[in-house]
Amino acid sequence: MKKISLIGAGNIGTILAYNLSRKQIGEIILVDVVEGLAEGKCLDLAQSFPVENLNIKIEGSSDIAKIENSSAIIITAGIARKPGMSRDDLIETNFSIMKDIGEAIKKYSPNSFVICVTNPLDAMVWSLKHISGVNSKMITGMAGILDSARFRFFLSQELNISVENIQTMVLGGHGDSMVPLLDYTSVGGIPLQNFIDEKKISKESISDIVKRTRTGGGEIVALMKNSSAFYSPACSAIEMLESFLLDQRKLLPCSAFLNGEYGHKEIFVGVPVIIGKNGIEEIIELNLSDDSKIGFDKSVESVNSLVKKCKKLLV
Ligand code: NAI
Ligand code: 2OP
Repeated sequence: MKKISLIGAGNIGTILAYNLSRKQIGEIILVDVVEGLAEGKCLDLAQSFPVENLNIKIEGSSDIAKIENSSAIIITAGIARKPGMSRDDLIETNFSIMKDIGEAIKKYSPNSFVICVTNPLDAMVWSLKHISGVNSKMITGMAGILDSARFRFFLSQELNISVENIQTMVLGGHGDSMVPLLDYTSVGGIPLQNFIDEKKISKESISDIVKRTRTGGGEIVALMKNSSAFYSPACSAIEMLESFLLDQRKLLPCSAFLNGEYGHKEIFVGVPVIIGKNGIEEIIELNLSDDSKIGFDKSVESVNSLVKKCKKLLV
């Protein structure tokens, strides 16, 4: 059995542990800094196994050494947004948490495939990579799958066509400058432009949907007040984890380390990648329209300004 470590037993960590226990693709370690929290949640989860005839190992702990020799690690530790806060407002607190976790990964499990979920996402993955020393092919951030899922959902509602038929990709940083790619959006294989030409959707509606996608996380925070989204972020991280553990080689938009791709270096930002048994096996370079390229570069700029803050915190 592969070992999957989940660091953070809050909203997302708990849904991850629940879903993964039902998938039975590896034994689960859930770690949280709050004494008793992960142990209690795992005890509760383990007591659901007899009811559903599940047979896997799950253990909760406040001792991060338990992540030793994990195949994969998903990090959701940190604080989440409150109404009126941007993801960027979390930077100092979450950086110091990434510092502790990065050092633990370096010590106990430097060869794991690491998926970061903690915000501000792209800057936190960058910090984790620098602190843990994990190879750039083995560390990535979850955001693009979630942002694309939101875009797909909104388009599906407007077109009244199943979400399953909507294909699209949202690239760039996980912030309000993220870039939904209209020219790589299709419905059942038919380019979105055909639906615009046939007046099945207006350009104005699309522009509203793009805006709603960019602020989709904040919309949920404003409704729930004490929490940000957790079901869809957990499902999105699991899609990345499964592609790695089961060598599915899925093409997914993820925050990956760029080394010249898309004209940028030494930065994590959302791009299409192939995830297989060796981690990020390929970064796919798309031909972006002029508008998308300008939007992508602007988004990289805003990630870069957060990375600059992290660089200062590193010393
Ligand atoms: P939460 O507050 O419910 O859970 C966070 C947990 O981390 C808490 O239980 C806390 O005790 C724990 N923690 C703090 N420091 C720790 C440490 N050093 N080691 C282990 N555990 C530690 O938050 P939630 O809702 O689960 O969100 C987690 C993070 O994910 C937030 O930063 C949030 O902004 C981010 N997020 C990212 C998304 C994305 O698309 N990348 C989407 C939604 C949320
Ligand atoms: C989200 O997009 C807050 O990043 C979080 O839901």
